[in-house]
Amino acid sequence: MYKIAVIPGDGTGPEVIREGLRVLEAVSKKYNFSYQTKIFEFGGQYYLKTGKTLQDKDVEELKQYSAIYLGAIGHPEVRPGILERGILLKLRFDLDQYINLRPIKLYNAEFCPLKDKGAKDIDFVVVRENTEGLYKGMGEFQNKGTPKEVAIQISYNTRFGIERCIRYAFQYCRKRNKQKKLTLCGKTNVLTYAWDLWERTFYEVAKEYPDIQTDYAHVDATCMWMVKNPEWFDVIVTDNMFGDIITDLGAMIQGGMGIAAGGNINPEGVSMFEPIGGSAPKYTGKNVINPLAAICALSMMLENLGEDNAAKAVEEAVIKVVTTKLKSLAAGKMGYSTQEVGDLVIENIL
Ligand code: IPM
Ligand code: MN
Repeated sequence: MYKIAVIPGDGTGPEVIREGLRVLEAVSKKYNFSYQTKIFEFGGQYYLKTGKTLQDKDVEELKQYSAIYLGAIGHPEVRPGILERGILLKLRFDLDQYINLRPIKLYNAEFCPLKDKGAKDIDFVVVRENTEGLYKGMGEFQNKGTPKEVAIQISYNTRFGIERCIRYAFQYCRKRNKQKKLTLCGKTNVLTYAWDLWERTFYEVAKEYPDIQTDYAHVDATCMWMVKNPEWFDVIVTDNMFGDIITDLGAMIQGGMGIAAGGNINPEGVSMFEPIGGSAPKYTGKNVINPLAAICALSMMLENLGEDNAAKAVEEAVIKVVTTKLKSLAAGKMGYSTQEVGDLVIENIL
């Protein structure tokens, strides 16, 4: 019996999570597993009502669950940073979800903005370090409010943190068993402390994985290759900030935020799965947002729980819907409502 903590969150979060949970119900019946869910109200609304984001006792409670299914965090009436740091990043950090796994997979060439690129060209995974780097929140102001003001933002990189991330990426690449190529994405030519340590660690760990081909690309060049030759990539490993940036680019080449999902993974603990698109206030409550990203996140969650066949069935259903039904992956342009897209996925689960 799986215990799923559900955080629908803000904006369109609840709408897409609702569809995800309907798909979960359908797939659990077909694949014979049982689960229970508990809804947690964390998010902008809850913060405006109570003044609270997420407390340590909430984190302790969440540790009792098999997985967390998250909609979106971000509210137009709350100053940027409060909910992101107070909820999303706190969950990632306190639950030590040190991997942010983001598959970049194009299901239907029609939805790709790149000319002459098809489904066979865009199929790679970004392994983003998820607890360190610039996200650590280290730094300070000096002489604040004066003309001599200085703002310092530190990128914090530990050997331990880098090594466990790189090791995960090698293992993931081996298990994925496609090109068997792992690319380190960094900036060794400028950020000579952080990326020296990343590079040294990468090539040291690589010795344990002689079956995996290694490659290195600077982050700016990675952006170029992702557009020009995305077929070169199999698995990319990178730090928190670069991973954040290149996965938004990745989301665009796989068809947009409507389809892009991610997992915040603690291989030894509780992991959390989310559509990466955010709360989309503009589309909230209109039944027009694309729920497929949340449904893809559900598929990742099922795989993480060990329900590989159910995970596959959900992904196959998504592929079917994306290749035979939808006019677009963008909100309001799909040719179907949010709920109808959920129905289509459910109908196509074999
Ligand atoms: C993401 C988001 C978050 C991040 C924000 C909302 C804090 O952009 O999941 O990529 O920067 O990691
Ligand atoms: Mn991001």
